[in-house]
Amino acid sequence: MSGANTRMIAANVLDAVLHRGRSLKAELSSALPRLPDPRDRALVEAAVMAALREHGRYADALSQWMSRPPGARDGLLRSLIYIGLAQIDAMKLPPHAAVDATVEAARLSGRAHQAGLVNALLRRALREPLPPAPVDAAWPEWLADRIRAAWPDDAEAIFKASAEPPPMWLRVNRRKIPRALYAERLAEAGIAHHLSDDLADAIRLDTPLPVTALPGFEEGQVSVQDGSAQRLVDALELPREAKVLDACAAPGGKAAHLAERHPDVRQLAIDVDERRVRRMQEGFARLGLDIATGVADATSPASVPAEGGFDAIVIDAPCSATGIVRRQPDILLHRRADDIDALIGLQIRLLEASWSMLKPGGTLLYATCSILPEENGRNVADFIARHADAALQPLDARFGRDTGHGHQRLPGENGLDGFFYARLVKSA
Ligand SMILES: C[S@@+](CC[C@H](N)C(=O)[O-])C[C@H]1O[C@@H](n2cnc3c(N)ncnc32)[C@H](O)[C@@H]1O
Repeated sequence: MSGANTRMIAANVLDAVLHRGRSLKAELSSALPRLPDPRDRALVEAAVMAALREHGRYADALSQWMSRPPGARDGLLRSLIYIGLAQIDAMKLPPHAAVDATVEAARLSGRAHQAGLVNALLRRALREPLPPAPVDAAWPEWLADRIRAAWPDDAEAIFKASAEPPPMWLRVNRRKIPRALYAERLAEAGIAHHLSDDLADAIRLDTPLPVTALPGFEEGQVSVQDGSAQRLVDALELPREAKVLDACAAPGGKAAHLAERHPDVRQLAIDVDERRVRRMQEGFARLGLDIATGVADATSPASVPAEGGFDAIVIDAPCSATGIVRRQPDILLHRRADDIDALIGLQIRLLEASWSMLKPGGTLLYATCSILPEENGRNVADFIARHADAALQPLDARFGRDTGHGHQRLPGENGLDGFFYARLVKSA
């Protein structure tokens, strides 16, 4: 595929996400398979991600450089210029590749009359640095205000970390290969990496790679999973052959890790979304894990096969995803203030229903990738106030800072995603 075509595809994805309210994940999953060369796929993904992180700055630059910058009605042209700027500014690609291929993409898309404009803007960006922007430029005001109110001393660091490309973390499947041996395979393949000191299955790559470039990926030796998500399994001390429910399991990363760590556990992994359950089943098959799965609504215990109850339940709850903006920058475009209240309602229903399926003496692990206290510690505090048989069991500093009602990891700390963990025990 030509360089111009890949820029065109990147601009189309960006246009759909920026101007037509589409989800980044959905657009990438439909566009990327059309590119046979993994290098093209990596370029499209990196350019779109960079443009989404920096679009506020790029819009400022265009307003300063042009008397009438292209508006949302010429969203594709605007997106193509942003893709060009992202290659120069964030990705530091060689100027000829960035400019020529993007200008050619303008021609290919039937915009030969605008190719000169694209060329002039990109060449200007090569000559002068783009104007700086406030660290929270990409955040909607209501959400930036909530972050500042929740984390007055850390807000700046949170905004900065959320605009950085995240590192790539791997989870080695200890049922297939010891971590040290897998690290040797990486070294043999010339893939620079670091073994995490305190995450037993984790390896951090120096440079992100497509999964197809990872040795042993197809054979299930390894998965891609952030260190914060890998931390969750350390919060569960399970009796032998414990019966465990993962109530919000798809696409299955945490359920798979639990099964890799505790082969004797009898786990049921459910999710309300049938398509995501199918993806989860494919993942378990690749990893060689035999985990019972089901499509079920965890807010409705009648729909969950829970005879006798569970020794442990994991709720990795749907949430604002404010801790993983660096991985999903479109969260900042699509999230509305009303969504947060709806999510909190769902989180409370998940907690209540799960409690009724938990055996006395059992453990409930509540986790989110949110950094908003109203989805995290406040839910936990209110839950404990409503349930005399619920007690918070402390976790240690590896889970981040103690909020008094669970532990919070903020995005970027130790290279990790933002994540919240609370462990509740039901009195016997
Ligand atoms: C944060 S994701 C879970 C990620 C997963 N634990 C992993 O590690 O791969 C939240 C999931 O909750 C699911 N979900 C939302 N409402 C649900 C419900 N009422 N019952 C079960 N699952 C639900 C969503 O479909 C989504 O897959």
